[in-house]
Amino acid sequence: SRAISLNISECFPAVLPSNAITGTDCCPYKPSFSKLIDFKDFASPNATLRVRKPFHLLDEEYIAKFEKGIALMKALPDDDPRSFIQQAKVHCAYCNGAYHFYYPFQETEFDVHSSWFFFPFHRWYIYFFERILGNLIGDPDFALPFWNWDSIEAMQMPSCFTNPNSSLFHQLRNQKHLPPHVIDLNYAVGNIDVPSHQQVLYNLVTMYKQMVLASTTELFMGSPFRLGDNPRPGIGSVEAAPHNTVHTWVGGADTPNHEDMGTFYTAARDPIFYGHHSNLDRMWAIWKTLGEGRKEYNDQDWLDSEFFFYDENANFVRVKVRDCIDNKKLGYVYQDVDLAWLRTPP
Ligand code: C2O
Repeated sequence: SRAISLNISECFPAVLPSNAITGTDCCPYKPSFSKLIDFKDFASPNATLRVRKPFHLLDEEYIAKFEKGIALMKALPDDDPRSFIQQAKVHCAYCNGAYHFYYPFQETEFDVHSSWFFFPFHRWYIYFFERILGNLIGDPDFALPFWNWDSIEAMQMPSCFTNPNSSLFHQLRNQKHLPPHVIDLNYAVGNIDVPSHQQVLYNLVTMYKQMVLASTTELFMGSPFRLGDNPRPGIGSVEAAPHNTVHTWVGGADTPNHEDMGTFYTAARDPIFYGHHSNLDRMWAIWKTLGEGRKEYNDQDWLDSEFFFYDENANFVRVKVRDCIDNKKLGYVYQDVDLAWLRTPP
C-alpha cells in the first residue's frame, strides 16, 4: 500500500515563507502515542444531525454561542491540545512541512494542500474543532457556521468577525476588505475593483466554473499523492479558487505574506478560517450531487491514508480518509441555501 501515514512523533521546524512574522513555531502539543485511539465516534443512523448554518442567517444567540466557544478556546492554557493556539499550530504543522514520513521517505516534507488530501484533511480538522467548541460551551449539538461567499447575500466578510469586542475579531486582515466591500472570488493582489453588482456576477460565474465544470474527480479533488511522491502534485479547482483567493483577500495588505489568513503557517490563527473552511467542506458535499461522475476517489491509497488530531476530550485520535467521506456519519449536515451560481454559466 502507498497510503500515507506520517511520523508525527517528530516535528521539524516549519518551512516558512520569507519574512515570516509571528507564530513561527508550528509544532503542536507533543502527542503521547501510548494513548492513541482509533476514531470510532460515528453518528448512529437515527441520531439528530448537527446542522451547519450560514453566518448571515444566524440569530444573535447562535453568534453569541460561537463567540463564547472561541473565547473559551483562546482562554485554555497554551499547552492544552484543544486551545485555539494549538489548533492553529496543527494546521501549520500539516501544511508547512513540519511532519515527515517514516523511512525511507523521512526527508519528504508533508503538505496537505494541492493534492487529493485537501478536502479530507480539512474536513477532519474542522470536525474536531467543532466538537471541541461544542464541548467547551456544553452544547454537543453545536455546529460550525459557514461563510457562504458563494451566495449573493453573503459575498462579504460576515459582520460578526469585525466587531472589535468579539473573540471573532482579528487585527491582521486587509482593512480595505471589511464589510460592505464585496469579495472577489478570483482575487489576486492588484486586481482592480469593479462595481459591486458586476463583482457579484463574476463571482457566480467563477463558482459555476469551479464547481460545475470540474466534472471529474481529479479536477475537483486534486491529484493523487501516494507515499513516495513529492508533495503538491496538483491542485483541485475549488482549492485554487475560491479557497486560495479568499485566504489572500482576507489576509493583511501590509504584511509580507498576507498574514494571517493569506499564508498557511498563520491562517488558522484567524477565527474566520473555520467559517471559510466550513464552506469549502460544504462545497465538497454539494459537488457530488451535481451529476454523473462526480464521486470521490475509490482508491485504497487515498482511503487508507491517516491523520492525527486531538478530540474534544483531549484524546489523541488517528483517523482515516475513508471515514470522513460521508459527513452524516460524522453527525452533521449543511443547511440548504439557494445556489444562484448553478444558474450562472459563463
Ligand atoms: Cu489548509 Cu485554507 O488551508
